[in-house]
Amino acid sequence: MSRRALITGITGQDGSYLAELLLAKGYEVHGMVRRVALEDPSRRLDRISRVLDRVKLHAASLESFPSIYHVFRLVQPDECYHLAAQSFVSYSFDDEFSTFNTNINGTHFVLAALKDVVPRCRFYFAGSSEMFGKVAEIPQTETTRFHPRSAYGISKVAGFDLTRNYRETYNIHASSGILFNHESPRRGYEFVTRKITSGIARILKGESTEVRLGNLDAKRDWGHARDYVEAMYQMLQQDEPDDYVVATNRTHSVRDFVNLAFSIAGLDPDKYVVTDPGFFRPAEVHLLIGDPAKATRVLGWRPKTQFEGLVEEMVTVDCENAGVSLARAKAI
Ligand code: NAP
Ligand code: GDD
Repeated sequence: MSRRALITGITGQDGSYLAELLLAKGYEVHGMVRRVALEDPSRRLDRISRVLDRVKLHAASLESFPSIYHVFRLVQPDECYHLAAQSFVSYSFDDEFSTFNTNINGTHFVLAALKDVVPRCRFYFAGSSEMFGKVAEIPQTETTRFHPRSAYGISKVAGFDLTRNYRETYNIHASSGILFNHESPRRGYEFVTRKITSGIARILKGESTEVRLGNLDAKRDWGHARDYVEAMYQMLQQDEPDDYVVATNRTHSVRDFVNLAFSIAGLDPDKYVVTDPGFFRPAEVHLLIGDPAKATRVLGWRPKTQFEGLVEEMVTVDCENAGVSLARAKAI
């Protein structure tokens, strides 16, 4: 009989890649989604459109324990990947309360339902390099002290602690991935990488004349989401639950991303990129670079896509989606 996986946040970037991976491995895949998503499939289920006929979706709200409990009772999963979250760091400065509510209570509800209904179900928590925040050491590893710099980062530290606590106290097979930034052509438009690549496509199409950005000096360790969901899967295949840093061990500034993306499109960034103080954050995480040695050693995981390939793929797909060919773009 095929194994059954439940993914919260299946409509997001990572959820969509993970659903494809698990289906390819023969899993029966279930997704927990908001009711509004079922009512507006063409827009809200866009990222999972290619697998919609092969996944089973269940309406529930991260804000409602009974709705989550009900889904666990119905699905009886063998593995649960808890990806749903308010994931935009910037927004967490605007509304700390709803970020805590969704990310902390939501994680607690999922863990509590799992413990009660399917205590042998394996659990993955989507931790984040934002937990390191004002970094205590470079590069960051599983033993680096947390110092979050946003409500989002704090909420992820709380989720990480809840996950560890359920592992230690209730013997749940619960693991956390401490994932560094990972991107793809399915990234939300509000995140800086997609904002840049989709902005380039709009410029080439003649729909815009600029891309307005905030801090260009911030540095991130950027990988590809398709590679990172492999690590999530591998964590739940281990005999023992544990926590793992997943990263490329290379860091680049936002400016590096801008320069490479514009050069792929044959454009001069100085003519189009405008620095806008409105996009600076009240507190910044300046430098993230992760050491995935433990994930490589234990899980056999390595990133397959490098920074250059990631940027090229994102620019290419956004230009294709906009109907602009890159060959033509370079000739402009
Ligand atoms: P994403 O594209 O923003 O997807 C977030 C998912 O969470 C969506 O399916 C969204 O559903 C769902 N969601 C948000 N608020 C919800 C709520 N109140 N109730 C129910 N569902 C809700 O994020 P992602 O990039 O795939 O990231 C997946 C997870 O990994 C997140 O927990 C994120 O914090 C974490 N993470 C991401 C990265 C990264 O670089 N991508 C790095 C470290 C950790 P809707 O479609 O209905 O909005
Ligand atoms: N979003 C955005 N928009 N960021 C900008 C902009 C802009 O116009 N200009 C500069 N930046 C800088 C931000 O200040 C930040 O330093 C960096 O670009 C990356 O910002 P985001 O792409 O919004 O991602 P993030 O690093 O804050 O958060 C992402 O990665 C985390 C893992 O480290 C999200 O995916 C989180 O959910 C994830 O946990």
